[in-house]
Amino acid sequence: MTLPDALRAFGKFSFGPLARKFGTFVEPHDDPVSFLASVDSVIHVEVRKLWPEAVTPKFVYEEIGTDSMRIEYRSARKLCHFMEGLLEGVADHFGYAVEYRQSQCQHDGADACVFDVAFVEEAQSAA
Ligand code: HEM
Repeated sequence: MTLPDALRAFGKFSFGPLARKFGTFVEPHDDPVSFLASVDSVIHVEVRKLWPEAVTPKFVYEEIGTDSMRIEYRSARKLCHFMEGLLEGVADHFGYAVEYRQSQCQHDGADACVFDVAFVEEAQSAA
């Protein structure tokens, strides 16, 4: 397994336990775009209050539509592949499929990783 694939798998695995432990940050949101827009300004702010030694990334968001957004990710740790897995975990949690594309990456020398992310709500199963 390559390191990016391992980081992606770990990110996807991580979101379920995070959402269960910190449900108070997740429950107010009905969709992944609204939730993701709160990570930088609410969740990671609270994380740094709880654990002052925590190192969280910096996000800049642009909402393209109700189901799509552009996210700029900046971190000296360059964990954009972990972030991709988290995006997949977030989509699963809210019952959406996700497509993302990195148009630039810090691993290639860019100053930020830029993700174009689109979510599509999955049909409810006819139960
Ligand atoms: C309930 C939700 C969340 C909680 C409680 C949370 C909390 C945390 C914590 C504790 C860390 C580790 C900080 C350290 O190094 O000490 C972290 C790192 C990170 N978080 Fe979050 N997080 C949440 C959601 C998300 C989401 C949805 C994303 C992006 C889609 C995200 C992106 C990241 C990334 C990429 C890192 C790795 C550190 C880095 O890139 O420098 N987080 N988060």
